[in-house]
Amino acid sequence: MSWALLLALCALLLLAVQLLRFLRGDGDLTLLWAEWRGRRPEWELTDMVVWVTGASSGIGEELAYQLSKLGVSLVLSARRENELERVKRRCLEISNLKGKDILVLPLDLTDTSSHEVATKAVLQEFGRIDILVNNSGIAQRSLCADTSLDVYKKLIDLNYLGTVSLTKCVLPHMIERKQGKILTVNSLLGIMCLPLSIGYCASKYALRVFFNSLRTELATYPGITVSNICPGPVQTNIVKNSLTEEVTKYVGNDGDQSHKMATSRCVRLMLISMANDLQEVWISHQPFLLVTYLWQYMPTLAFWISGKLGKKRMKNFKSGVDADSSYFKFFKKKHD
Ligand SMILES: NC(=O)c1ccc[n+]([C@@H]2O[C@H](COP(=O)([O-])OP(=O)(O)OC[C@H]3O[C@@H](n4cnc5c(N)ncnc54)[C@H](OP(=O)(O)O)[C@@H]3O)[C@@H](O)[C@H]2O)c1
Repeated sequence: MSWALLLALCALLLLAVQLLRFLRGDGDLTLLWAEWRGRRPEWELTDMVVWVTGASSGIGEELAYQLSKLGVSLVLSARRENELERVKRRCLEISNLKGKDILVLPLDLTDTSSHEVATKAVLQEFGRIDILVNNSGIAQRSLCADTSLDVYKKLIDLNYLGTVSLTKCVLPHMIERKQGKILTVNSLLGIMCLPLSIGYCASKYALRVFFNSLRTELATYPGITVSNICPGPVQTNIVKNSLTEEVTKYVGNDGDQSHKMATSRCVRLMLISMANDLQEVWISHQPFLLVTYLWQYMPTLAFWISGKLGKKRMKNFKSGVDADSSYFKFFKKKHD
C-alpha cells in the first residue's frame, strides 16, 4: 500500500471518529475540547463572588448547588424568597459554605427600578461581583395568530430588557476593576427559528446580539468576558412556566421530560464555559446540535429542515404532548 493511500485512509478514519464523537456529543466542538483539555472549574472559580438570577428553580438552582461545592460566595436572586431560602439551605448542606457566604436577594427582573439598589446591596455585602449569571427567563408555547401582544411585551421585558438593565448596573463596577465575567443563559432558540415560541426566540435573538455587541465594545477591557450560554431542551420547569396565548395563562404542566438533558450535565458544561471564558457555547443532545450548526453555517438548508420539524412541533402541541418530544424517539435510548 502506498504512503498516500495510507495517509488518506488515516484521514478518513480520523474524520469518521470525529463525526461519531459529534453525533454522540452534547456540546459544540469548542466546548467539548475545553471539557477535555481546558481549565477545570475547580481550579478557576473558587473564592469568586457569583450572582445568579433565576436561582429558585431549574438551571439557576442547580448552578447554585454546583457553585457552592466550588467554594464561591453566592448571591441568589429570583422573585420567590421562600424558594431561594430553600436553595440556600440545600447549598449549606452539601458544601463547606457558611450562612454568611450566601446572600438571598429577592429580585423581580422586570422591575428595573430596583436593580441599582440590588447591585449596591451585593457590593455592600461582598465588596465585589466577579461573575454575573443572567439566567432568569420565561418561555412561550402558543401560535402567533392566537397570542396577545402583552405576551410578546412580557417576553421582551423579562428576557431582554430586564437582563440588559441588571447588566448595566453591574458593568460600571466591572469596568472600574477591569475584570469580571458576564454569563447570559440564552438558548438554541436564540440561534435557530421554530414555531410556537416566536416571542421567546425574538427575545433570545435580541439578547444574543446585545451581548455579542457588548463584547466588541469591551475590547479594551480584556479582563471582562462576555459569554452566551445556549442550551437546548433541559429538564427544568421552563415548559410548565411557559406563557401561552395570554399573559396570565401558563402551560401549567411539564409533560414528558425524559428526552431532555439532565440539568446537572447542562450546568457542568456551563461551569466549563465559565472557567475557560468561552464566548458562546451550545449545550444540547442531537438532533438540535446538528440543526444549530446548520443554522449557523447553512441557513437556507436550516430553514427547509426547520419547516419540516416545525410542522411536527405544531402537530405535537395540538395533540397535547411536549412540542419537541417526537424528534427524540430515534435518539432516546442514548438519553435514558
Ligand atoms: N430548560 C430549558 O430547556 C432551557 C433551554 C434553553 C434555555 N433555557 C433558559 O434557561 C434559563 C433558566 O430557565 P429554566 O429552564 O431553569 O426554567 P425555570 O425552572 O422555569 O426557572 C426560571 C427561573 O427564572 C426566574 N424568573 C422568572 N420570572 C422572573 C422575574 N420576573 N424576575 C426574576 N426572576 C424570574 C424563576 O424564579 P421566580 O419564579 O422565583 O422568580 C426561576 O428561578 C432561562 O433563561 C431559559 O430561557 C432553558
